[in-house]
Amino acid sequence: MTQSTKSATDAAGGYVTDIPYLFRYHRELNPAIHALMITGEGRTPAFRPHGALTYLELGCGFGLSTLVHAAGNPAGRYIGVDFIPQHIATAKGLAAAAGVTNVEFIELSFADLAHHPLPDCDVIAAQGVWSWVDAANRDLIIRFVEKKLRSGGVFYVSYNALPALAPIIPAREIMWSAFRNAAGPTSVKIDAALARVREVMAANSTYLTDNPRASQMLERALQSSPNYLAHEYFNATWDAFYHADVANSLRPAGMSYLASAHILSNMDRANLTPDTEQLLAKIADRTERETLRDYFLVPEFRRDIFVRNLAPAVNMDATLFAMKFAGLANPTDVDSIAGITLLGEIKPPRAIAEAILRALMRGPASADDLANASECRGIGRAELYDVLVVLTAMGAAEPAAPEATLTARKAIADRLNPVLWNYAIHGDTISVNLSPVTGGGIAVPQVDQVFLLARYRGEDPVAFLQRTFGANVEGDLAAGYTHFLGYRLPLLQRLGIA
Ligand SMILES: C[S@@+](CC[C@H](N)C(=O)[O-])C[C@H]1O[C@@H](n2cnc3c(N)ncnc32)[C@H](O)[C@@H]1O
Repeated sequence: MTQSTKSATDAAGGYVTDIPYLFRYHRELNPAIHALMITGEGRTPAFRPHGALTYLELGCGFGLSTLVHAAGNPAGRYIGVDFIPQHIATAKGLAAAAGVTNVEFIELSFADLAHHPLPDCDVIAAQGVWSWVDAANRDLIIRFVEKKLRSGGVFYVSYNALPALAPIIPAREIMWSAFRNAAGPTSVKIDAALARVREVMAANSTYLTDNPRASQMLERALQSSPNYLAHEYFNATWDAFYHADVANSLRPAGMSYLASAHILSNMDRANLTPDTEQLLAKIADRTERETLRDYFLVPEFRRDIFVRNLAPAVNMDATLFAMKFAGLANPTDVDSIAGITLLGEIKPPRAIAEAILRALMRGPASADDLANASECRGIGRAELYDVLVVLTAMGAAEPAAPEATLTARKAIADRLNPVLWNYAIHGDTISVNLSPVTGGGIAVPQVDQVFLLARYRGEDPVAFLQRTFGANVEGDLAAGYTHFLGYRLPLLQRLGIA
């Protein structure tokens, strides 16, 4: 190894830097989701999710989540840092093209965080970072959070979780050892690793037969893009942690676990049998309880919200019942709204969910508002609030941003979304648009984005789709567009996207 290669690798801590990641949007990074969880857990958030907060994402990749959330909250200051130049250049380009001026993307390694002037933060987020960087970099992250996170602020951190990942660790080792022993750039070494996986699978490895989840992981790896694989499996570090490992490492910085940002994971009734609930209820220590809970939920990936100097819980019902939510689904979709847990498919109570979604067609509403809506007559506020949260957990509702500032958000969404639609037609994996109604990202399928772009450009959407994708488009395009007009477009218009 030459001296210059060695120092580049050392600076990266074994992280791959010669191949970019993908565009990914994560609603779990949205401060509005953090504020919902903080309030739901009986505390007053120390920041206003649609106010003058300061937000920083460590290892932001192409920065899509940070960009969308900045655009959705023009009063906030948003910063994304990452050490891969292509990530930062692309993120800056997107922000500039859309005229989003309250976001900064900074090319910076975690080692240099301490030497760069950065503000105190209300939210610091690290998505897809903790398990993939070495212990020295995790320590740098903790030091940064300790120095820069305000009291009451959120540290969001996601990571590979134990015990669920335990049987899968040796499967990654098959890929990693072949990768490590191959020569050349990352893409060539990945090919060598995948070739080894095919050989091992064809030879009927006893380990893989005994561990079907490990086989499934390798099957999925064989179908994945090199960009995903490089960042998921081929960094020198690929660690999994018990919740207690992470909670204990953050405790000296004054951090306490609040809840998962993956809302469905918090719902005991949806995830645990009554016997398990009773067993866990006996455990007084929160860290021990949350760690043991993972032996029943077995999440492979945790998305934890930690709060600095967490205050004792109080009754927040009045605030919760006044929180407004937007509907993300048509009332006629009600039968397809579901969440999957180990207990099976969980559905919201049908009649109440349908009544709520019908009322939300007029615009965002709180449980207090809904209690007075004709569709929801006779349903109590607490029940309405519970179902609103269940719908939110299942992606059919979302906290709404304040109506008073809608016009400013709409102007920015009208600039950002066409930029995102343009990426969508080039096959990039941007599958999200900004809703000025929620101030967050909403999943919009690629074909709908192509229709929206054609309408925006004043072109015939069917001809445009045909021209853009040629022989790759199947089915009756005119019928597809008619369905879009009657069914998807009104919803996108209610969300301010179209
Ligand atoms: C798996 S990607 C996740 C990207 C983004 N958070 C997302 O969820 O889409 C991890 C990111 O962390 C960045 N990263 C890893 N180690 C880093 C370091 N030491 N300093 C700065 N960025 C780093 C990588 O460049 C990569 O973009």
